[in-house]
Amino acid sequence: MRKIYLVGFMGCGKSAIGRRLSYFLKMPYYDMDHEIVRQQGMTIPEIFEKYGEAHFREIETDFLKSFRDEACIIATGGGVAVNEENRKIMRHTGLVFFLDAKFEDIYMRIRNDKNRPIVQKSTEEELEELYYYRRKFYREAGHIQVLTASRTLRQIVEYIAFQVNRLKGE
Ligand code: S3P
Repeated sequence: MRKIYLVGFMGCGKSAIGRRLSYFLKMPYYDMDHEIVRQQGMTIPEIFEKYGEAHFREIETDFLKSFRDEACIIATGGGVAVNEENRKIMRHTGLVFFLDAKFEDIYMRIRNDKNRPIVQKSTEEELEELYYYRRKFYREAGHIQVLTASRTLRQIVEYIAFQVNRLKGE
């Protein structure tokens, strides 16, 4: 079954776009962070605090390996594409879209988020550094890069749906 994965930095719009794409393509949608929170019975900050980031990364890989074999849309967490095994799993089981947003836009959206431990412990400069460090991994993970700046959510969703339909037969 072919999945549609949305990858990109925190706050690039993976969840908002995933939900809308789900209505548009009539495919089920899952938010990886929500699924992990449900499975573990803990919030993301609690997992980070109790078990550390490395353990959270293992949970993410387990999730990708074991998630149901169903055509669906998955909004991944911002760190998922950094891991090579995760990139391989995603590319082999579906189509991967890199949602490429500008750091300034991203920072405005995430700066006050208490539910993102990495934002909580980092300065703006550190987040910007992480953003540039991770870009190459998002590019490597993605089959298709989607520039989101100056496009509406609707335009982005229509563009992704167009690409999904175009590549369906391949
Ligand atoms: C993370 C991004 C978060 C979440 C966790 C770690 C990251 O997901 O998985 O806080 O390392 O970038 P979002 O990209 O949905 O915020």
